[in-house]
Amino acid sequence: MENADRPLILVIDDDSALRQICLDLLRARDYRAFGAASVGEGLRQFGERRPAAVLLDLKLPDGTGMDVLRELQRRSPLTPVIVISAHGSVPEAVEAMRLGAAEFLEKPVAAERLHAVLERALTPLPAGEEPALERTLEGARYGMVGSSEAMQRVYQLVDMVAPTRARVLICGERGTGKELAARAIHAHSPRREKPFVELNCAAVPAELIESEMFGHVKGAFTGAVADRRGTFESADGGTLFLDEIGDMSLVMQVKLLRTLQEGQVTPVGSSQSRPVDVRILAATSKNLVEEIDKGQFRDDLYDRLNVVNIVLPPLRARREDVPLLAEHYLRLGSVENDLKPKRLTPRAVEFLAQLPWRGNVRELRNLMERLAVIVAGDTVTHREVMDALHMASAPPTEDGAPVPLKLARSRFERQYILERLSANRGNLGNTARDLGIERTNLYRKMKRLGIESPAKRE
Ligand SMILES: Nc1ncnc2c1ncn2[C@@H]1O[C@H](COP(=O)(O)OP(=O)(O)OP(=O)(O)O)[C@@H](O)[C@H]1O
Ligand SMILES: [Mg+2]
Repeated sequence: MENADRPLILVIDDDSALRQICLDLLRARDYRAFGAASVGEGLRQFGERRPAAVLLDLKLPDGTGMDVLRELQRRSPLTPVIVISAHGSVPEAVEAMRLGAAEFLEKPVAAERLHAVLERALTPLPAGEEPALERTLEGARYGMVGSSEAMQRVYQLVDMVAPTRARVLICGERGTGKELAARAIHAHSPRREKPFVELNCAAVPAELIESEMFGHVKGAFTGAVADRRGTFESADGGTLFLDEIGDMSLVMQVKLLRTLQEGQVTPVGSSQSRPVDVRILAATSKNLVEEIDKGQFRDDLYDRLNVVNIVLPPLRARREDVPLLAEHYLRLGSVENDLKPKRLTPRAVEFLAQLPWRGNVRELRNLMERLAVIVAGDTVTHREVMDALHMASAPPTEDGAPVPLKLARSRFERQYILERLSANRGNLGNTARDLGIERTNLYRKMKRLGIESPAKRE
């Protein structure tokens, strides 16, 4: 007989035999458990039944466990997700931990280990032991941290527009959370189970953007060897996020405008248009009104996109959120690297709060994640924050005071790793082999030295 008080566990694995084994193991310990065989089904079931924890296989027929993990992190960051990985796929498991997985288990899953891991994941943290996360999450909405008045206004707008189809223009400096806001809107919209597709208008070369957006038919141009769907069609039923819209050429602006008016796309090289049902969110770090004055942006397109405007404040305009964000990312950095939690000294917090933060939240996040790894003890001092800042920004050689050995070594390591990464075109496995270290070790070093993983740079 099922006991409704026992935690409900969702097992997402496409291998029905393995799924059944997990379900049996769980039920043998009185957990209530149910299974799903795909990304789509898993997310749907999660939404409907709100399990207390999720066991997640990384290889699924309609996507990867990483997709599930990302989505669950957005929807319900406190629900523990335990990743089950095939034997020998440690890098994937590390990546999963980076994305917020609570633990990982190697296949075949051993009963004892499964229970130990689940128990740990489901035990509430002892009061006082790790207050940082709870406090952080109080101010957190949609994965957005911050309780300042300026952020409250942002949350209100997100709440208001999410259930509608309204187009939203999200403005703000670099690193202020524009993409996060766009994802939050999608995740809280009726389209949440449908795709969220991002197109970065600044990253796609001008000559490719039309085909990227609208697709092309075979033979439309050299290299068009087969029909291809564009982002509009990939996002059908869901949301298309047009990032850096201020960088779109005037020619493309006209084409986009026409598409928005007609609700139809015409693939490059085709004479037939196809209807699409897409909600558009756009973002820019440029001042579009100025761009309109300069003749760089069409005002009719601006009016179409800017039905609702959300402006993300720069971090220096909401300094009261710095401590919350700093603790949040310091904790995340520790958890991801399997390290003990660390605390900031009051002086370190004070110091952080008055920095200029030109790179906004992204800069703060990188700094805190680096500190989580480089600081050996369990407190992070003001001095260590200064050193870490220095390491991120200072050129490799610099006049003036001699550089402490530790810093010099870090700089050399950073430079050398960057070199090898570039020689290996970002391939971590080959770079690790070159350097004679384990891939996971390389990954850790990169994190510590503030080197973005190539996957993120793509
Ligand atoms: N309010 C916030 N709370 C927590 N994390 C945030 C917040 N705002 C931004 N971040 C984090 O900062 C980083 C940058 O955010 P995001 O990519 O959304 O910014 P952006 O405005 O799109 O930047 P860019 O203009 O450079 O593309 C991400 O890692 C994101 O998770
Ligand atoms: Mg962005």
